[in-house]
Amino acid sequence: MITFVCQICGEAYIGKERPHDCPYCGATEHFIKLGNEAHPITNQKEEIGDVSRKNLLETLELERTANALYLCMANKSDKYEIKAMYKALAKVEMEHAVIVTKLLDIARLEIKEELCSDDMVENFKKTIELEETATNLYVRFAKEATEKNVKIFFTALAQVERGHIELIKSYL
Ligand SMILES: [Fe+2]
Ligand SMILES: [Fe+2]
Repeated sequence: MITFVCQICGEAYIGKERPHDCPYCGATEHFIKLGNEAHPITNQKEEIGDVSRKNLLETLELERTANALYLCMANKSDKYEIKAMYKALAKVEMEHAVIVTKLLDIARLEIKEELCSDDMVENFKKTIELEETATNLYVRFAKEATEKNVKIFFTALAQVERGHIELIKSYL
């Protein structure tokens, strides 16, 4: 077994081989380092300017909302695969929210509640909409960021959310 560490969320993955994506935040393979070579962005102190602070707070809201919506959608599904998939997505979005709290030194993370449809096709469409909004925002936030780590964070997240769109489209 080997310890790998994700540069984005800072979480360790213990296994025989480097995972293709971080099992916690979904960051791509490129961001997963051998434990002794990792310098996660969540473990570095960086001054964050007003623009990125505002963008990170917007991200926190978006990720908390996504987490709550996906938990609702998980509960509405009768199919085990879809239920488990939405629970996994909810965990990834929660991890994104947690990374923001680390970057901004926020001590508490309040859990939200959201309502969702009983119709899974509606929920899939809503998910795609949400993930498209997130992807576009994060691409812009990455461009606007003057801080090295914030730029890396939004670049990694845009890739993850784009991957979620492809996943949900495969169910439609
Ligand atoms: Fe990660
Ligand atoms: Fe996310």
